[in-house]
Amino acid sequence: MKKTIEVSPNQTFLVKGPAKIGIIKGEISILENTLGKEENIVITRGKALPIKAISETVLDIYMDNDDAIEPLEEQFPKEWASTTNLFENLEVPTLIPILGSVDSGKTSLTTFLANTAFKKGFKVAIVDEDVGQSSIGAPCFVSMGFMEKTVSMLSEVKLKGSYFVGSNTPSRLLHRTITGVAMMVKKALNNNAEMVLIDTSGWVYGRGARELKTSLILMLQPRILIALQRENEIEHLLVPFNKSSVNVVRLPAPKTYKRSRENRKFLREILYQKGLEGGQDITINLAQISLKYTLLGSGSKVKPEKLEEIKRILGCLPVYTEESADLLYIVLPNDEIKINKDITEYLENQLCKTEVYLTQKRDFESVLVAFQDKNNEPIGIGIIKKVDFEKREITFYTSTDKEKVKSVQFGLLKVSEDGEELGYTKIL
Ligand SMILES: Nc1ncnc2c1ncn2[C@@H]1O[C@H](COP(=O)(O)OP(=O)(O)OP(=O)(O)O)[C@@H](O)[C@H]1O
Ligand SMILES: [Mg+2]
Repeated sequence: MKKTIEVSPNQTFLVKGPAKIGIIKGEISILENTLGKEENIVITRGKALPIKAISETVLDIYMDNDDAIEPLEEQFPKEWASTTNLFENLEVPTLIPILGSVDSGKTSLTTFLANTAFKKGFKVAIVDEDVGQSSIGAPCFVSMGFMEKTVSMLSEVKLKGSYFVGSNTPSRLLHRTITGVAMMVKKALNNNAEMVLIDTSGWVYGRGARELKTSLILMLQPRILIALQRENEIEHLLVPFNKSSVNVVRLPAPKTYKRSRENRKFLREILYQKGLEGGQDITINLAQISLKYTLLGSGSKVKPEKLEEIKRILGCLPVYTEESADLLYIVLPNDEIKINKDITEYLENQLCKTEVYLTQKRDFESVLVAFQDKNNEPIGIGIIKKVDFEKREITFYTSTDKEKVKSVQFGLLKVSEDGEELGYTKIL
């Protein structure tokens, strides 16, 4: 349905997606980005935008639900505006991580700061650490982009670099998340960024989250750190730094539009679909590529006597085995034996002094991967369809040009060809 609304200057409201806004008359501001007559903005399902009218404005709003428009008291807390003081006499380059719990407004504040700093003439880069609700790049990636214009949403920021973490949550992959942020910050600084805003994930509770956030702050060594809070829900993350010189700027969180788990999943899935669009099966021999974040392909053939011994102990013929200085790697047929600690330890004691790693053929199916070119730059995502252990070939579903693929980085998430999340696998 279409609704035409007239808004007076300073009137503020939220538009919830799915919706499209067309400006018929006047001007609006979204987090310091001004939009005028004949400009449009599309808001996807699960997203919402706080809008303020600058002048007498007429808007055409196309929406599914009658309650898509909601009046707001303020577009953002007034304290946010005072952050622009931080930009006066700023030593550049400056890194500013923005911390807060889920739906605390981190991405909105990042957008606001990015627009404000851009208008002041800073060369601004944004690093998106949130692998679950990515704004700049694809889900499961840490991404980076430079502000080339003011934006209403960070998805408008052009992607300049990204690093594949391999999961939609950092929880099992803290080290890859930190590596991604470090790489993206380095890339931003190498490209002369004066201000790097780091939009973080809302994972702030529990030991894993504390490890990640402490490590991130230590790695970044920022002079300024922004903590966005409704009350004092992330103070525990700030305590380890209360004797350091970092300037912790505490800001109030606005009342935000909460995204449901389903909507978060939906938003990720449309991005996997986009990444896999026009996909086809490509088969690559392991000799042609290097594999990262998998144990597969790093060793050599197991001697026949040892293979016999493995067969005897397990009571079945493995699909594949390989051995390296630190590991005996065994891929089993599906459901042939129950993999557990006892069987692994028994094999370790009987066969070798190294670790034994057991996995099943099925664990490879549907695993999300990222491809890199010869410069290690990401060139697309794909899904493992089949591993032919005999021929040492992997078949992927992807739209990436096979000729350009020089390296494949394995993830932990499984995704269908239709872009549906199917759960997790283990390190392969
Ligand atoms: N003043 C406001 N009132 C209501 N909703 C708002 C307001 N400002 C922003 N929002 C909306 O609330 C939602 C959550 O805000 P935002 O994405 O900035 O939070 P976040 O902390 O980054 O969330 P996440 O934890 O998912 O990364 C967004 O759709 C945003 O547009
Ligand atoms: Mg966010």
